[in-house]
Amino acid sequence: MVQNLYQQDRYPSILILDFGSQYSELIARRIREANVFSLVISHLTTSDEIRKINPDGIILSGGPSSVYENHAPMCDSNIFNLDIPILGICYGMQLMVRQLGGVVTPAKDKAEYGRAPLYIDNKCSFLTDVKDQSIMWMSHGDSINKLPCDFYKIAHTDNTSHAAIANDKKKFFGVQFHPEVVHSEFGLSIIKNFLYKICKCKGDWTTETFIEEAIPKIREQVGKKKVLLALSGGVDSSTLAFLLHKAIGDQLICMFIDQGFMRKGEPEFLMNFFDEKFHIRVEYINSRERFINKLSGVIDPEEKRKIIGTEFIRVFEEESKRLGPFDYLAQGTLYPDVIESAGTNIDPKTGERIAVKIKSHHNVGGLPKDLQFKLVEPLRKLFKDEVRKVGKSLGLPDEIVKRHPFPGPGLAIRILGEVSNAKLNCLRDADWIVRDEIKKSGLYNDIWQAFAVLLPVKTVGVMGDKRTYAWPVVLRCVSSEDGMTADWSKIPFDILEKISNRIVNEVSEVNRVVFDITSKPPGTIEWE
Ligand code: XMP
Repeated sequence: MVQNLYQQDRYPSILILDFGSQYSELIARRIREANVFSLVISHLTTSDEIRKINPDGIILSGGPSSVYENHAPMCDSNIFNLDIPILGICYGMQLMVRQLGGVVTPAKDKAEYGRAPLYIDNKCSFLTDVKDQSIMWMSHGDSINKLPCDFYKIAHTDNTSHAAIANDKKKFFGVQFHPEVVHSEFGLSIIKNFLYKICKCKGDWTTETFIEEAIPKIREQVGKKKVLLALSGGVDSSTLAFLLHKAIGDQLICMFIDQGFMRKGEPEFLMNFFDEKFHIRVEYINSRERFINKLSGVIDPEEKRKIIGTEFIRVFEEESKRLGPFDYLAQGTLYPDVIESAGTNIDPKTGERIAVKIKSHHNVGGLPKDLQFKLVEPLRKLFKDEVRKVGKSLGLPDEIVKRHPFPGPGLAIRILGEVSNAKLNCLRDADWIVRDEIKKSGLYNDIWQAFAVLLPVKTVGVMGDKRTYAWPVVLRCVSSEDGMTADWSKIPFDILEKISNRIVNEVSEVNRVVFDITSKPPGTIEWE
């Protein structure tokens, strides 16, 4: 099942059994940052399946349940007999304790959330390089009351007597805190100790080995057939284009559908860069008229998104027939999409896996399943930060690799209300100034997204001696790890001032700039 699920060719060195923690993906990322390939799998995976994969180590993730609840998710207890090192994190540790005969009880008034100094009681190899009293991130309501046979305590906090435990004989370890979150000071050391000192991982997961392994696999899959790729200029499709071009050269044909909603200079950059500079064949499809006409009179954001999505598919179908036939379609599916579609989320009440809702508004570029293509998805093992590294090492410039995310429907969902060419031009100019100033200030790479939004109202202003009546622009700048949650960026006032001055002076249809100070949640990053 695991092999089918992930189309594995490289087996993971570390398997993370997911008990529904919000951090399971983060654990996998941290492990990969330490050059070890890891995958998140369902906690229902059997010990037989795990034995076939034969990982160097297993991690039992945290989770929202309590181990003594009726439907608390459990793992196959035979995994404790596989002779593979295991690290239990938070819920994972409590589960291991319980399944091996120890006792876990509610911590009552001693529930512990947030930072706590960790007092080391036994300096074993698992805690190498971890400073005594370093701060760790706790989040739990239950505690260990009695350890199973052969386990001993290696660290405690003020409120938790068993903050870290070990069983040297079996190479089992448990931590009550979250070593994977950045607030845990020596968290990465603990993860590395587990990987290298306990599991003896090789550390061979690097960008270079990924590329080396991916290229022959693509060649083998595709043979002499033609592959079609819908190129958007974003980091995923650009990296995919470079990787495929390296693997199969001119068998790759990219299609760039210009909906007319891209930022200033982007279509020209894309064609110059891929087609002219790197000789990757890109078919430019100018569909600007078609899309803007379809949006005439449309105000509702969801309707806009649907119309754009449907039209995109129509254009894609027509053009792929015209350029084809193609046997293969390349898609920039990433690992988080695969984890989500594998449905590893767990209902905390019943302990059952629940279907994960598709982020409907994020798949505008997504294509219907019934298209007659076979899929090539060489990035499906990678996290976004890994895609960036692969892109960089394939020769993509920072301009693409470090580019802020940009939604599929583009500027059309940053113009509130009806979209028109006049508004698109206006927003393009304002947006260009925002990005230009944020880049000049050196903040671009620290910010997740910085952009302008055009409002469908007019406000009164005064310029020179004249009264103006023009559109306001909203400045939206956010910091985020993954776009799921975000905080508004605290941009220094002098930079805000420069942006505001330039926009009202250089964009004639705009006479006011406002700054959005809403985090996500409750606000979304985009305005529509
Ligand atoms: P929201 O607005 O939901 O956005 O907070 C979260 C992140 O997703 C991006 N986004 C999209 N990306 N197609 C995409 O490829 C879309 O339709 C889409 N809508 C939002 C958004 O820019 C932010 O980074």
